[in-house]
Amino acid sequence: MTTTAYKRFRMQIDLKRRSLKPVRLPEGYRWLPWRSLLLERHAQVKWRSFREDLDGKVFSCLGESAGCTALMKEIVGQAAFCPAATWMVIYQPEPDWPAVDCGTIQGVTRSGGMGSIQNVGVIPEHRGLGLGRALVQQALLGFIQAGMGITVLEVTADNIAAVQLYQSLGFRTIQVLYRDSSTGETMTEVEAESRISKWPRRLSGR
Ligand SMILES: CC(C)(COP(=O)(O)OP(=O)(O)OC[C@H]1O[C@@H](n2cnc3c(N)ncnc32)[C@H](O)[C@@H]1OP(=O)(O)O)[C@@H](O)C(=O)NCCC(=O)NCCS
Repeated sequence: MTTTAYKRFRMQIDLKRRSLKPVRLPEGYRWLPWRSLLLERHAQVKWRSFREDLDGKVFSCLGESAGCTALMKEIVGQAAFCPAATWMVIYQPEPDWPAVDCGTIQGVTRSGGMGSIQNVGVIPEHRGLGLGRALVQQALLGFIQAGMGITVLEVTADNIAAVQLYQSLGFRTIQVLYRDSSTGETMTEVEAESRISKWPRRLSGR
């Protein structure tokens, strides 16, 4: 079986000196806090955000509607699921307009006061307006409220938009990982390099 490997950055931010300011959205957008009846809506926004992008191709579950539903169920089914760090953004400029689901983020907590961002996604039609930044900030606020001191996440090295978003918010790379695309398991850089000829160039990281 042919497998591929992907370079990922593990990034971290210290929450201890961050202030608790409310996160504002552009006009016409508003927050939806987590409720279990929103599970499928989160899954569908996740799918629409990822399906045409790098991570939707790297991770098959993110590139498929059913995969995103399964992933959402797996995240919210964890004892460590953190509703305070789980949000949707909707667009509804007028009260009688149908709301459009635009963005999603989910969080879980880990031992040692660590929050972990699972997936942030904004659908293509609503990108470049600050929603991705607002979603991450809102999740960080939720982690602070849940008593977390740091927050971590993982991002594909070639996902320039996401890496720049996290760096601009103060996340720093603390580890470089190589993952098997089929199993998600980590491997050493040497093992990953042995598969380099099988790496699709634009997915291989720098
Ligand atoms: C990454 C993503 C969430 C960004 O959402 P967005 O709403 O467009 O981002 P914002 O408008 O809040 O941009 C915030 C910052 O991100 C960075 N950024 C966003 N899009 C970028 C792009 N195309 N190229 C480079 N940097 C980009 C910039 O630093 C930007 O700050 P600036 O506007 O001051 O330059 C969105 O592109 C997305 O959903 N991608 C597909 C899913 C995905 O890969 N998620 C990340 C998984 S780890």
